[in-house]
Order: sequence, then structure tokens, then C-alpha cells
Amino acid sequence: MKFLAGSSLVALVLGSTEVLAGSFKISDTFIGSSFLTGFKHEAIGDPTHGRVNYVDQATATRLNLTYTNSNTLVIRSDYTTKLNSGGAGRNSVRLLSNKQWGTSVTVLDVRHMPVGCGTWPAFWTVGNNWPNGGEIDIIEGVNDQGPNLSSLHTSSGCTMPASRSQTGTTTSTNCDANVNGNEGCGVRYTKASSYGPSLNSAGGGWFAMERSPSGILVWHWARNESPPNEVRSGTGTINTDTWGTPVARFPNTQCDLNSKFAAHNIVINLTLCGDWAGNASVYSQSGCPGSCVDYVNNNPGAFVNAYWDIASVRVYTP
Ligand SMILES: *[C@@H]1O[C@H](CO)[C@@H](O)[C@H](O)[C@H]1NC(C)=O
Ligand SMILES: *[C@@H]1O[C@H](CO)[C@@H](O)[C@H](O)[C@H]1NC(C)=O
Ligand SMILES: *[C@@H]1O[C@H](CO)[C@@H](O)[C@H](O)[C@H]1NC(C)=O
Ligand SMILES: *[C@@H]1O[C@H](CO)[C@@H](O)[C@H](O)[C@H]1NC(C)=O
Repeated sequence: MKFLAGSSLVALVLGSTEVLAGSFKISDTFIGSSFLTGFKHEAIGDPTHGRVNYVDQATATRLNLTYTNSNTLVIRSDYTTKLNSGGAGRNSVRLLSNKQWGTSVTVLDVRHMPVGCGTWPAFWTVGNNWPNGGEIDIIEGVNDQGPNLSSLHTSSGCTMPASRSQTGTTTSTNCDANVNGNEGCGVRYTKASSYGPSLNSAGGGWFAMERSPSGILVWHWARNESPPNEVRSGTGTINTDTWGTPVARFPNTQCDLNSKFAAHNIVINLTLCGDWAGNASVYSQSGCPGSCVDYVNNNPGAFVNAYWDIASVRVYTP
């Protein structure tokens, strides 16, 4: 028996429209230039102390760090400039959606993600007043290493059962951002093609995240796999009940998802070095040369593949 999404439950109780639990309609489609109106470039100081200089939209498009055509969004870090060690970091892009969504399904069709030593890319969603509004990481890792997890980060009092109906492997169960060094509660994807060079050599693929008060579910299909047709073609209505077992399932049994997760923005970011990728032991264990900051400063050409190429982001609501 599947849980009912909150609004579907209301609809059933009221007897107005009978909606299936996993049934959602297209709300927002981002393809090509609609990322330029639906998202803002955040020219902010990197909260994770990376060796980046996040630029605004006018600068990013002028420098071709942000590029769109009718079916593509490319965002990247600079790969031509040698940096002065006393000056600003390498130019890069961080996008934040203008809208926030609560109960919804987000489907990302990604062709390429940033790779290279020093890179720390992420595709994630986050609410206001972190960690109180919650954080859902869909793709995140450093120095091409993964850890190939989807994870939640919350305020205290949110844990996950060890055993759940999912294909991925549970790696940690306490979602509280204030413990275990903000590890969060994670589930490891089943395929290497969920991250980094392997994702790129597979031609990318699809990631989908459903959230409702009853659960947060994540699916991943590599390009050469068979996602549901409605995922591949972006049809106007979807029914996640037909998508099969998710790779990660975060149920509400030990966590009141309704109070731990506010409406979320989508964030697509690419920082370099910083607290995680630039940690000296993490960086060297990744097999990366020298120190992260020196590498970023002196080797612009190493960042030629540090780019996201995104075919679409679609958001569906009940
Ligand atoms: C990038 O995204 C990750 C996602 O979890 C987040 O932890 C990190 O703070 C973000 N970094 C920047 C610079 O926005
Ligand atoms: C801008 O970037 C896009 C995507 O990477 C690329 O195809 C295009 O050739 C670039 N344009 C210029 C003028 O360099
Ligand atoms: C994650 O994926 C990358 C890229 O395929 C792979 O090299 C790496 O070994 C994986 N890491 C883990 C911890 O599974
Ligand atoms: C760097 O990472 C290691 C291993 O993950 C950790 O033990 C250490 O505390 C980190 N160092 C800093 C300065 O964050």
C-alpha cells in the first residue's frame, strides 16, 4: 500500500477528484534560456570557502560561463585565466531557482557534470533558514570521487530506518545536520554512472526526486537505461507509482517530513576546493596533485571539463 500525498488525501476525503497518490502534473519546465528567467545567478561569497568567484548573470553570459540555446544550459567555471594567489578565486556560477516547491517531483535530465581535481559540484534543493527548512542532495561530490550519495540534512530529531524498500545502500541514518560533521542521512546510488567521469561517459541520464509529507524518493537512470517513457519525454502528467523501486527512500516513519522540510529552491552550484574538496587529506586521497588552491590558481586548462550541461529540469506538482 502506497502512502497518499497530503493533497491527494484531502481530495479523496472531500470526494471531489479522485487523484492517484503518485500522480503529478507539470508545473514548471526549464529548458535553455528559461533557466535565465527561472533562476538567478547568485554572485555571493562561497559559504563553503571555495576558491571561486561566483559571478552575476551579465558577467557569466558575457564570459560564456553561462550559455543557453534552444535545448541546452551550460554553466561552467573559467578555464582560461591564471589566478593571482592574492586575488579573487576562479570565476564560476551558482544558480538558485526563483520559485520554491513543497510537495512535488523534480526531474533533471543531465548530459554532463563538472569533473576534475578540485571540483565540488552539486544539484540539490534547500529551504530557508538552513538546516531548519531542510536540504535534499541529489548529486554532490568532490574531486571526481562521489561519494555518490543522495542525502538529507535537517534540524535535530529526524532519523531514517536502517531497512527500507530501495535499491541503494543506506550509509547513515541520522539526518541532523548538527551531528556527525553534517554527514546527514545518506543512501548510496547503485551505479557508478550516478557521478563524475562515469556519469559523463554514460552520456549523463535522469535523476528524479519526489517529496511529499509521507516520503522523499529518488530515482536515477543512466542514459542507456530505460526510464519510464514519461521521464524520457517529459509528458504533462506523471505517476511515480509506476516508476518502480526508488534508489533511495526516506520515509516519514521516524521523521516528521512535514515540519523538517519547508518549500525548497533548486540550487545548481560548482565550487572549487573549499571545506570539502579542498580538505588536504580528502584532496590528496583523491589522487589530486599539490595543494588544491595552487592547482586551481595555476592550471586553468584543468577546468575545461568543469561544466554542467543540462537538457532540462521539470517540476511537477499534485
Ligand atoms: C553547494 O552545494 C552543496 C550541496 O549540498 C552545499 O553543501 C554547498 O554548501 C554548496 N556550496 C556552495 C558554494 O554553494
Ligand atoms: C560558449 O559555450 C558554448 C557551450 O560550451 C560553446 O558551444 C560555444 O562555442 C561557446 N561560444 C564561444 C563564443 O566560445
Ligand atoms: C563514485 O563514482 C565515481 C565515478 O564513477 C567512481 O570513480 C567512484 O569510485 C565512486 N565512489 C564511490 C565511493 O562509490
Ligand atoms: C579533513 O578531512 C578529514 C578526513 O575526512 C577530517 O578528519 C579532518 O577533520 C578534515 N580537516 C578539516 C580541517 O576539516
